[in-house]
Amino acid sequence: MQVIFEHVCKKYQVGDETITVLDKMNFQIEAGDFLVITGPSGAGKTTLLNLLGTLDEPTAGRILYDGVEAGSMAPDRLADFRRDHIGFVFQFYNLIPQLSARENVMLPLLPNRKRLEFDLQEKATELLAEVGLDGKGDKYPYQLSGGEQQRVAIARALVNTPSLVLADEPTGNLDAHIGEQILRILQGFNRKQGVTVVLVTHNEKFAHFGTRVTRIQGRKLHEVR
Ligand SMILES: Nc1ncnc2c1ncn2[C@@H]1O[C@H](COP(=O)(O)OP(=O)(O)OP(=O)(O)O)[C@@H](O)[C@H]1O
Ligand SMILES: [Mg+2]
Repeated sequence: MQVIFEHVCKKYQVGDETITVLDKMNFQIEAGDFLVITGPSGAGKTTLLNLLGTLDEPTAGRILYDGVEAGSMAPDRLADFRRDHIGFVFQFYNLIPQLSARENVMLPLLPNRKRLEFDLQEKATELLAEVGLDGKGDKYPYQLSGGEQQRVAIARALVNTPSLVLADEPTGNLDAHIGEQILRILQGFNRKQGVTVVLVTHNEKFAHFGTRVTRIQGRKLHEVR
């Protein structure tokens, strides 16, 4: 999915103080990009990802998804848009502890009632195999390692075949070797299925996964390579 930021500003009001995190930012993400975002703590990486994910709105400016402005959609449509087109992967996995790995992956499919339960199970099982968790569908999150839980989270993010996947420090809680494996899985989906990936990471070692590498500095996003 192509995403265009036009003069995007994001400010937070904290008491009497206004914090400007992003200021008149212009940027374009192309369909099929694997975009890495780096930058110091507090620079605005999560803020930017929340805007990209339509979880938050810019204070000024516009964000266009394949030409459509998210801010112009009614809340219901925006929720549908988000569910159908955007997948999220977080640092702390955010799996539901009472659900098995397979049920966690199925969760985003449930509002789609036109599909049969059997198909949903099948789809989740298939994706679990793709992330290397063949046969682990019945396990609960507490029975899985951190790296395995993050794989479940990736399968969940991809189950609705999104065109954009947003990952905020998905390796932040994992050792470097496992982190590398997790990013290779995302890279595989980017290369094979053309899913656009935006990855926020502190770790410069992971920048090589990006087809483009950027850095937030001075309230704007800059291309590094
Ligand atoms: N909801 C909020 N209300 C007020 N200020 C906020 C809010 N969210 C973020 N901020 C402020 O905006 C700035 C950017 O925060 P953000 O979380 O985007 O940084 P980050 O680059 O993701 O940092 P980190 O690497 O530590 O995760 C920080 O100064 C933060 O305190
Ligand atoms: Mg952050």
